Amino acid sequence: MKKTLISLFAFINISLSAQGNNYAQDYTKYPNLALTPPMGWNSWNKFACNVDENMIKEMADAMVSSGMKDAGYTYINIDDCWHGDRDENGFIHPDKTRFPSGIKALSDYIHSKGLKLGIYSDAGSQTCGGRPGSRGYEFQDALTYAKWGIDYVKYDWCNTEGLKAEGAYKTFTAALKKAGRPIVLSICEWGDNKPWEWGENVGHLWRTSGDIFNCFDCVEDHGTWKSWGVMQILDKQEDLRKYAGPGHWNDPDMLEVGNGALTKGEDRAHFSMWAMLAAPLIAGNDLRSMDAETKTVLTNKDVIAINQDKLGVQALKYKDESEFEIWFKPLENGDWAIAFLNRDKAGKDFTFDWKSNKFTDDEVSKKTFDTNIQNYKVVDLWSKKEIGNTKKTLKATVPSKDILMLRLVKIK
Ligand code: GLA
Repeated sequence: MKKTLISLFAFINISLSAQGNNYAQDYTKYPNLALTPPMGWNSWNKFACNVDENMIKEMADAMVSSGMKDAGYTYINIDDCWHGDRDENGFIHPDKTRFPSGIKALSDYIHSKGLKLGIYSDAGSQTCGGRPGSRGYEFQDALTYAKWGIDYVKYDWCNTEGLKAEGAYKTFTAALKKAGRPIVLSICEWGDNKPWEWGENVGHLWRTSGDIFNCFDCVEDHGTWKSWGVMQILDKQEDLRKYAGPGHWNDPDMLEVGNGALTKGEDRAHFSMWAMLAAPLIAGNDLRSMDAETKTVLTNKDVIAINQDKLGVQALKYKDESEFEIWFKPLENGDWAIAFLNRDKAGKDFTFDWKSNKFTDDEVSKKTFDTNIQNYKVVDLWSKKEIGNTKKTLKATVPSKDILMLRLVKIK
C-alpha cells in the first residue's frame, strides 16, 4: 500500500512538472518601472470623495495646458470613492453616476493626452472611505485594472483585520504580475509595518507616515489617528534614506502645494524638500484653477531635475541647528544639491564656509563632498541666479519658513 502511494505521488509530481507549474506565483513587482520618483496628480488632498469622470478629464487637460506635463508629470491618479458595486461574479464596477462612461473610456482619454491613469484600492474588506476593498478579489481586481488600461495602483490598508502587511501586498503584487500589464504599485500602509524593510521587491513606493495635513508645522489629532504637517512628515524621513533607490521610493505622501494653507515660502520649502528626498511628486491641488505662483513652484524644472536625478539618492541631513537645517543630495554627474531650510518664526542670516564643510556619504552613495578638491559654481534654483562659487564663503538670508535651494555645478 505504502509503495503504491509513493508511486502515485511520484506520478502526480512528474505529470505536474510535465504540465508546467502553472500554480506558482511571482510575488515580485513589475520590474523597470518608476526608475525615478513618480510624478503626477492625485484627487484626495483637495477633493476627497468628490471625484467624477469630468473632473478627472479636466485635470488631465490642465496638466497638459499648465505645462506640468512638459515639466515631467505623468500620472492622473483617482483616489478613494470611484467605486460602485461588485457584480454577481465579483467584478468591480465604477460608480455609475460619477463615472457613467466607465474607466476604460477614461483611460483611453488620459492616454490620448500622453498621460497615465492611476486608481486606488485597499487590501482590506473596504477602503478607508467605505467602498469595496480588494480582499479576496485581488486577482480579479488586478485583471480588471489591466483590462481598463490602468498604469498605477495605490493600495491602502484600512479594514485589514487579521492580515499581515507584507503577505497582503505580496498577494496583490502577484496579482498585478499575473495580469500582465506594467502597473506601478504604491504601498500605502502608512509606515506601520516598516514597508521599507520588505517593500523593495514588492512595490515601487511606500508611504512612510500617516496622512499629510494641509499645514506647514502642526499635528492634527482626529482622536484615534493623527495627520501630520509638512515638517512633521519631514522629520520621519531622515533614517529611511538607505532604503530608497531607483524603482523603490520612500513616499512621504502627496503634495499640499497650492492648497491654500501654506504661504508661498512654505510651498517652496515643501516642494524643495520633497525634491531633495527623492519623494514622489504627486500634486494634490486643483490644477484647473491654480495661481501663477503655485504653477511656478510645481513646474520649477531645476528643482524637479534634483528630484528626478538618475542616481536616485535621498538627501542626507548634514546639519540640524534646531530650526535651521542643511541637507545635501548627491547627483549623478558629480554635482550636489543643497538646501538650507529655515523652520523658524524669524528670518535667518548665515554664512557657510564650503572648505571646512567636507564629508563622505558613507551610508548610501559613498560620494565625497570636498571643495578643497573640487570647486563648484553655486546656482540658486528659485531665483535662477548664479551666486558665486565654492571658493568663496556663502553669505545669505533665508526668510522665516522658507528655503534656499542650490545646485553646486562642478567646474571642470
Ligand atoms: C488613507 C490614505 C489617504 C487616502 C485615504 C482615502 O487615509 O492614507 O492617502 O487615500 O485613505 O480614503
